[in-house]
Amino acid sequence: MKILQIDSSILGDNSVSRELTAHIAAQLKQDNPGATFTTRDLAAQPLAHLTAAIYTGLQTPDAGDNAELADNFKVLEEFLAADTVIIGAPMYNFGIPSQLKAWIDRLGVPGKTFSYTAEGPKGLAGGKKVIVASSRGGAYKDMPHETAMDHQEAYLKALLGFIGVTDIEFIRAEGIGMGAEARSKAIDGAKGQISAVKAAA
Ligand SMILES: Cc1cc2nc3c(=O)[nH]c(=O)nc-3n(C[C@H](O)[C@H](O)[C@H](O)COP(=O)(O)O)c2cc1C
Repeated sequence: MKILQIDSSILGDNSVSRELTAHIAAQLKQDNPGATFTTRDLAAQPLAHLTAAIYTGLQTPDAGDNAELADNFKVLEEFLAADTVIIGAPMYNFGIPSQLKAWIDRLGVPGKTFSYTAEGPKGLAGGKKVIVASSRGGAYKDMPHETAMDHQEAYLKALLGFIGVTDIEFIRAEGIGMGAEARSKAIDGAKGQISAVKAAA
């Protein structure tokens, strides 16, 4: 079994999503001692904005001797090879960090993760589980403003669904900016959810 951990928070040791991804990884390691773990820290080693050369290059069979394209292929292949993917996804400005968006830009590749058929779009990257560690300063879940303002979890769900991933679990700590008590309650609540997390069957 292959497990991939993605972190994208810019807040280092103060990051809530990183605290949660670390807990999720520890839980999965304990439950799956034989699993192979790969980690990618998108804040420490950011991916560049997507370019036309990379976008079209990723649609070719392989990178040939193009080293930059090979690095980008590695990002896509890591995702495709993983059975379970843990994504640390803070809400920044109602969406996801641009670091995480740059990673996603390596996944939305026609012919690799989706295709258009006579019946409509078809996801090609199914059969894996994604666990999203979601952190946000305000509260959105089941609130009247959820649909209008949550472009973080809703976006990830739509994007992953489009490429065929339907087994998505959100571990959520929200209200992080609403005082120390709310912050620790939210983190404790999310950690409580983690004990029930299981890797892809
Ligand atoms: C650059 C930035 C933008 C943010 N934008 C929002 C926002 O739009 N809505 C919100 O509820 N919280 C917002 N927050 C608060 C974060 O969602 C919150 O601090 C969360 O814990 C961030 O996850 P992290 O600690 O893993 O970085 C923002 C924080 C930062 C640093």
